[in-house]
Amino acid sequence: MKRTHYCGELREAHAGQEVVLMGWVQRRRDHGGLIFVDLRDREGIVQVVFNPEQEPSAHELAGKMRPEHVIAVQGTVALRPPGTENPHLQTGRIEVWAKGAEILSEAKPPVFPIEDEIETAEDVRLTYRFLDLRRFPLQRNLRLRHRVYQVVRAFLDRHGFIEVETPVLTRSTPEGARDYLVPSRLYPGSFFALPQSPQLFKQLLMVSGLDRYFQIVKCFRDEDLRADRQPEFTQIDIEMSFIDREDILTLMEALIAELFEQAAGILLPRPFPRLSYTEAINRYGLDKPDLRFEMELKDLTDLLRGSGFRAVAEPLAVGGWAKGLNTKGCGGSSRSELDGLTDFVKGFGAKGLLWLKVTTNGLQSPVAKFFQPDVLHGIQGRLKGEEGDLLLVVAGEPIVVSEALGRLRVKLAQDLKLIPEGEYRPLWVIDFPLLEFNEQEGRWAAVHHPFTSPMDEDLPWLDADPEKVRAKAYDMVINGQEVGGGSIRIHRREVQSRVFERLGIGPAEAKAKFGFLLDALEYGAPPHGGIAFGLDRLVMILSGASSIRDVIAFPKTQRAQDLLTKAPAPVEPAQLRELHLKIAL
Ligand code: AMO
Repeated sequence: MKRTHYCGELREAHAGQEVVLMGWVQRRRDHGGLIFVDLRDREGIVQVVFNPEQEPSAHELAGKMRPEHVIAVQGTVALRPPGTENPHLQTGRIEVWAKGAEILSEAKPPVFPIEDEIETAEDVRLTYRFLDLRRFPLQRNLRLRHRVYQVVRAFLDRHGFIEVETPVLTRSTPEGARDYLVPSRLYPGSFFALPQSPQLFKQLLMVSGLDRYFQIVKCFRDEDLRADRQPEFTQIDIEMSFIDREDILTLMEALIAELFEQAAGILLPRPFPRLSYTEAINRYGLDKPDLRFEMELKDLTDLLRGSGFRAVAEPLAVGGWAKGLNTKGCGGSSRSELDGLTDFVKGFGAKGLLWLKVTTNGLQSPVAKFFQPDVLHGIQGRLKGEEGDLLLVVAGEPIVVSEALGRLRVKLAQDLKLIPEGEYRPLWVIDFPLLEFNEQEGRWAAVHHPFTSPMDEDLPWLDADPEKVRAKAYDMVINGQEVGGGSIRIHRREVQSRVFERLGIGPAEAKAKFGFLLDALEYGAPPHGGIAFGLDRLVMILSGASSIRDVIAFPKTQRAQDLLTKAPAPVEPAQLRELHLKIAL
C-alpha cells in the first residue's frame, strides 16, 4: 500500500475517492458490529469505519488495533450520515470506509494520553518526548518555528544578508554567563568553550568585508534557568557594516513586523515606540517594560524625604528613592493579600511595602500617622488615588525600588487580569548605560558586552564618571520580554583598549583573550553593528506558549538536564584518561 493522503486533509470534496492512509490509532470504538478507528497523522484525525459484513478480514484486524499502533488503511471516503457529523474535527463531515488494513507497528500503551490537554508532569513528558511531540499543540509550535526560519531567511536574503556558519568549538565569548567547556584531547589541560554567541566571529566577518551577515545559530550559556531561558538556545544573529543605529532599528523593525505578519497573521503597531533606558526604569521599573497595561510607577522621593517614618526617611537620606504605583480598585484587599504583596517585593530585596487605601476619609494605612496630611495628600495626588484604590510604595536603593515595583506591577497586572489577550506591544529600549558596577567583584562590568561602542559624546567620562557613559546599544522588547539586543560596535582599536582597561582587562589579558579581535581592528575595520534575536522567545510569543520548553523539540529541564537521553552523564574512565582528566569529587 502506498499512502495517497494525510488523514487530516480529507474533506467533503474527497467523497467517493479511494484513499490509502497511514498513521497512529488515536482510539478504537466497537459499536454493535461496526468498529470505528480514529486515525491520526501530523495533519489531523479522521474516522475510519470497519464493517464486518462487507470487509470481514479488515474488520478482524481492526479488532486487534490498540491506541498508538501504526496502521495503514485503504478505503473509500464517504459523507457521514446526517446527524453523525463531528463539528470538533476538521474532517468531521466525512469518514473512510475501510476495505483493507495492515498493522505496521504495534505499540505499548502510551505512558500518557496523546491529547491536546494533558495533566502529565513535565518530567514524564520530557522523558518520553517522542510521545509528547505526537501531541498537536507541540507539533503546531514546531511547525510555527519552521515558518519562522523560512520568513527570517527570506527577508534577510532579500536584503542582501549572507548566511555564514561560525565555529561551535571555540574560545570563550563574554556574554555574562558561565561557559560550557569541552576538553581537548590533543592539548592536555586546554579547553574549547561553546559559544555564548557568535559575537566576535560576526565582527570579524565585517572586517573581512562580508558587509551583511546572518545566522540562525545555537548559543550555549550555563546560567540560572527560568521560564524563558535554556542553556542551549537559538539566536537569529545579524551584523551589518557602514550603518548607524537608525539603519539597524528600521530594518530590524521591518524584519520582526514581517515575521509576525507572515508567520502568525499578527499586525504589530508601527513604528515601534522608543524609550530610553532611564525612562523605562523611571516609568516601569524594568528595562523590558510590558506596555499592554498602564499602572506606571511615580516618583515620591521629594515628598517622603524628611518624613517621620524611619523606614522611608533613612534610605532617602542616603540617595535612595521612594516610588509608588496605584492598584486601581484594590482598596478592599485583605491583610493576608497585602502580606503576600509585601513578601513578593521582599523577594527582590525591598525592606518592606507601604500600603495606603484611599477611603472617603482620606488615606488609611497603619503608618499614616507618621506622615503630615500634606504629604499624604501629595502621595494621593501624584498616584491619582481615587476612592477604593490601593496605593503601594517602596523606598530603598534605586535599583531595588525599581526592580521590586517593576516586578510587582507585572504580577498585579497578571493577578488582576489587566493584560489584554491577543495584544502585542513591541518597543525599542535605547541609550543603555555602557557599564555597571559589580559590587561583588568591586569593578565595572559591561552592561551588554565589552565590544559595544560608547556614545561618542560620552567618551570623555569613561574614566572620570563611568556611570554616565551611555552605550550605542538597544533591546527590542515585546510584551515585557526581551526578544533581541544589539549595538553599534567599537571599530577603533584605541577605543576598544580603553574600554577593556575600564573593565579591568589589562593589555596582557586582552591580548591573550581577544588578541585576534584587537589585531583585526588594526587591519581596516569598517564601522559596524548588529543585533541578535532570541528565536525561541519569538516563537513563544507567536505561539502563546507559556514555557520556552514548549517551542523546542528536545529541551533541557529547569535543572539543565536532558531527561530523554539522560544527559549530562558520566563517561568511561578510559575516555577521561584520554582527555587527561581526573574527577575530583
Ligand atoms: P544577548 O545576550 O542580549 O545578546 O542575546 C540576544 C537574545 O538572545 C535571547 N537569549 C536567550 N534565549 C533563551 N535562553 C537564554 N539563555 C538566552 N539568553 C539570551 C534573548 C536576547 O535578547 N551577541 C549579543 C547580540 C549582539 O550584540 O548583536 C548577544 O548575544 O532574547
